[in-house]
Amino acid sequence: MTQQTIQTQAFPDQLPGTSGLRKKIRVFQQPHYLENFVQSIFDSLYGFERETLVLGGDGRYGNLEAIAVILRMAAANGFGRVLVGRDGLLSTPAASCVIRKYQAFGGIILSASHNPGGPDGDFGIKYNTGNGGPAPEKITDAIFEHSRQIREYHISDEADIALHQVHEFTLDGMLVSVIDPVDDYAELMASLFDFDAIAAMFRGGFRLRFDAMHAITGPYATEILERRLGASAGTVINGIPLTDFGGGHPDPNLVYAKQLVEEMFSDTAPDFGAASDGDGDRNMVLGANFFVTPSDSLALLTANATLVPGYAAGLTGVARSMPTSMATDRVAEALGIDCFETPTGWKFFGNLMDAGKVTLCGEESFGTGSSHVREKDGLWAVLFWLNIFAVRQQPMADMVREHWACYGRNFYSRHDYEGVGKAGAEALMTELRARLATLPGESFGNLCVAYADDFSYTDPVDGSVSTGQGIRIGFEGGDRIVFRLSGTGTEGATLRVYLERFEVDVQHHEQDAQAALADLVVIADELAGIRCHTGRDVPTVIT
Ligand code: G1P
Ligand code: ZN
Repeated sequence: MTQQTIQTQAFPDQLPGTSGLRKKIRVFQQPHYLENFVQSIFDSLYGFERETLVLGGDGRYGNLEAIAVILRMAAANGFGRVLVGRDGLLSTPAASCVIRKYQAFGGIILSASHNPGGPDGDFGIKYNTGNGGPAPEKITDAIFEHSRQIREYHISDEADIALHQVHEFTLDGMLVSVIDPVDDYAELMASLFDFDAIAAMFRGGFRLRFDAMHAITGPYATEILERRLGASAGTVINGIPLTDFGGGHPDPNLVYAKQLVEEMFSDTAPDFGAASDGDGDRNMVLGANFFVTPSDSLALLTANATLVPGYAAGLTGVARSMPTSMATDRVAEALGIDCFETPTGWKFFGNLMDAGKVTLCGEESFGTGSSHVREKDGLWAVLFWLNIFAVRQQPMADMVREHWACYGRNFYSRHDYEGVGKAGAEALMTELRARLATLPGESFGNLCVAYADDFSYTDPVDGSVSTGQGIRIGFEGGDRIVFRLSGTGTEGATLRVYLERFEVDVQHHEQDAQAALADLVVIADELAGIRCHTGRDVPTVIT
């Protein structure tokens, strides 16, 4: 039982992105790689001696081994206590919940979110601060700086680390509390939603299918939906977390949540279908034979929020990431509350929430959340919808159509070109940027450009400025095309093209989204030369 200081050499590639450091697991398996990054996190923090750290991960390949290393390093670096999920498990929103509930100094979450796992898959690590949200840029920049200069790290050589049951032990003087990963989170959900009304709806025959995609939400969904709310056994499918997610891609979208989507578009479709991702922060929701875009979902949650006990007093404001459709903006306008447009990535919402400026927020990438935690929250969104169903007693499709009739419909789709060459993708953005000044007033087909810019955001709380956040091209009438490069990919570059068409006329609301957006697809290629820069005729994923 001694604490050791190990000599090491810096790795030059430890730059955390919008969601922490994400690499192939093979990269993380290099000697000292994980340790260097963890030490760089600790070296970037001040005043954590004898404080509490929260620790858990999405259970992917390498999770438990990494948890053991981090526990030994936390002890050697002077933390007083670590709250760690049983078997090293904590969903991202549950980790955020636990950090807040126990007023921890911060937390480390091991996850590569929706990226595949297993020995050839991805791994990731991120640090969350005491408010429960992702570390702000000044901390992630400091981590990177430390990682470039690191010479040594501190680690305990204690080998006896038992995480398979809820109990407490000391590790080189540090208290380790192994907690049930679900309990605190389930209690928070019960405080926000009308569990009795939802349970009564299930007793009345309401049918839900929840696809956990062999990832972390399995235990959470089984406990909350089936055990506490009485949904029938088998409501949760793929509910056992597997280290490789069953070989699948744990991303809840129309392409990857195939089993769920097939059922929801069949004759025997349940009333409501939902899925979550690798670490439990994303959600996809569907009605019987009806897909709800994440942008529309946020707009409907906003419009219906006061039906839910936790939000009955109304919302202080809402926020959406820039590429998310503008459907929520009009609801906010009608409610007389602010709607903030932030750069992609969850961390920008945290400041707004800490300052009490927004209650709900969301991203087009299947992320929705509220100020109950400081991460997006997949199961929370599902419970929010269940509560709306319980009050309104209407099919999903009817609720969404009524919403469009009232506010207009934003046809929306994201086209991803994954794993394209970095140089080509960057040239595409550079060339487009160079043309921005001359685009306003120019016409494409029957659409005239109203504005074109490279999105920059000034945080209304701390005044920090984030530039280069994606190219927005807005047309007269409310249509929009957005171009940006992904910050989370691990291979080559990923170009994301976001297409949006605003339609007030109810007569046209039943059109297929891709058909409604066909003109914009052509214009996007005309504007950016997608084919010639990426060498691709079609996107890899359309959502
Ligand atoms: C993607 C999503 C973004 C989300 C992030 C983390 O980032 O687009 O909305 O916040 O994953 O889940 P991107 O790869 O586009 O940078
Ligand atoms: Zn995720």
